[in-house]
Amino acid sequence: MDKPIFLIGFMGSGKTTLGKKLANHLSMQFIDLDHLIVERIGMSIPEYFTAYGEQNFRELESQMLKEQQGKRAVVSTGGGSPCFFDNMQWILENGIAVYLYLTPKALYNRLQQSNIASRPALQGLRDEALLQFIEEKLGEREFFYKQAHIQIDQLNSSLDTICQSIE
Ligand code: S3P
Repeated sequence: MDKPIFLIGFMGSGKTTLGKKLANHLSMQFIDLDHLIVERIGMSIPEYFTAYGEQNFRELESQMLKEQQGKRAVVSTGGGSPCFFDNMQWILENGIAVYLYLTPKALYNRLQQSNIASRPALQGLRDEALLQFIEEKLGEREFFYKQAHIQIDQLNSSLDTICQSIE
């Protein structure tokens, strides 16, 4: 595999966890786009949103996504990465796009247990409001996610099945 594998999907869909396993299994480098951004900006993503706004974050995210061109790596992207500018088209042309899908309810259960403060889009959202936000946002973003070359049912697929569909 001489081009990157991009894992795409909503916050909480398990891109980082699966990405590490997949990279290990395929003997490829693992890259977490959010981590790269945090290293470059020298602050957390919520801090960056507060200081410079979402628009600047999306521009930097798009630029850093495209810096992954030609890498032999599994790249875990941020939940919004494919949904801005021409990013999804670029991903499709420059890599293999793998969409990890989960139902809104499953995402909700996982996000409830995660560190919500690390995700600026979710700040202040709990319970019913969180579920409603996930349903709406996923509805918008699926337009992009569903263009992926490969779609994976995150709960019902084994690592072997996932690897077979990519190889
Ligand atoms: C975002 C998802 C986050 C991160 C940023 C914005 C989004 O990544 O890029 O907080 O808009 O969905 P994860 O999907 O890794 O949480």
